Amino acid sequence: MILSIESSCDDSSIAITRIETKEVIYHKKISQESEHANYGGVVPELASRLHAVALPQILEETKPYFDELKAIAVTNQPGLGVTLLEGIAMAKTLATLLEIPLISVHHLKAHIYSLFIGKETLMPLLVLLISGGHTQIIEVKDFTEMKILATSMDDSVGESFDKVAKMMGLGYPGGPYIEKLALKGDENRFDLPVPMRNSPLIAFSLSGLKNAVRLEVEALGGSDGMSEQEKCDLAASFQKAVKLHLIQKSKKIFAKNSIKDFAIVGGASANQYLRNAYDTLCKEYKKTMHLASFEYCSDNAAMVGRYAIDAYARENFIDPDEIDIVSTKKQQNGMLR
Ligand code: KG4
Ligand code: ZN
Repeated sequence: MILSIESSCDDSSIAITRIETKEVIYHKKISQESEHANYGGVVPELASRLHAVALPQILEETKPYFDELKAIAVTNQPGLGVTLLEGIAMAKTLATLLEIPLISVHHLKAHIYSLFIGKETLMPLLVLLISGGHTQIIEVKDFTEMKILATSMDDSVGESFDKVAKMMGLGYPGGPYIEKLALKGDENRFDLPVPMRNSPLIAFSLSGLKNAVRLEVEALGGSDGMSEQEKCDLAASFQKAVKLHLIQKSKKIFAKNSIKDFAIVGGASANQYLRNAYDTLCKEYKKTMHLASFEYCSDNAAMVGRYAIDAYARENFIDPDEIDIVSTKKQQNGMLR
């Protein structure tokens, strides 16, 4: 079995995964959402302190499995430096004490592997990753070759939902609030700009759309001045513009890329409205759509453990003294390393 740890942002999570069957034997996640909600976003130092309490609490429950562990896996990039540190310190200690190998895991690759929990690996695969930190289309050829075909130039999908929700006085994280309000809204009420509609660039940008929403909120008297219906209509109109932007750019890649299997991963892949749009697109381009099960869309240690199984098979280990934290930075097109 492999014990895996995730602490790249505001979720403290540990999982135990069986190597032969790829099944999750144990998985627990303590989310800090309510603590950060007061601030409308993640406060790194607070997150770090909460991980320092939650991770040892969860670890206590995994002790019965310690004898059967073959490796320890931990997210080391990208993420918040101070929170990654908490998971890494625990992983290094465990690997050293139990005298088993340590595996460092790239968070975005772990999101891709959320698709394969309890299953065999399916590659090649075209992946849309939409999370709080990233919007990317990645061509996954195999374990070592993952090429970023399109990436965000500013706010990610999840981030834009969070910021728009904050403007309208909704809770954090904003994605689920916006999606829920949008169900009761008229998506054609507000004429919001579809980002980069006339640009040949295959990239994502949501900060302009976010600012357009801000102007509408201000014109309606701010979040306190808006009626419930206005919030629903603005949420729906915003979500529609995000969809049109994602689909327009994805189409350009779908038209040229012959990979038949397509997947959406990351926290925002839980959004049913976006899922439906991609379902239609996949039918048009004769691609098969794959999704992770709902509980593994947002950050979790089970996906870290599933990636680690493939890394373990390749003996892709790292010396505990050499594991580096690579904090969040915007990644340009290129390989996912
Ligand atoms: O993958 P994730 O848990 O964390 C990162 O790696 O960033 O993604 C969290 C993001 C948040 O920004 C959240 O608002 C967004 O995923 N999200 C959604 C939905 N559920 C979560 N965005 C849109 N619609 C949703 N239903
Ligand atoms: Zn994530």
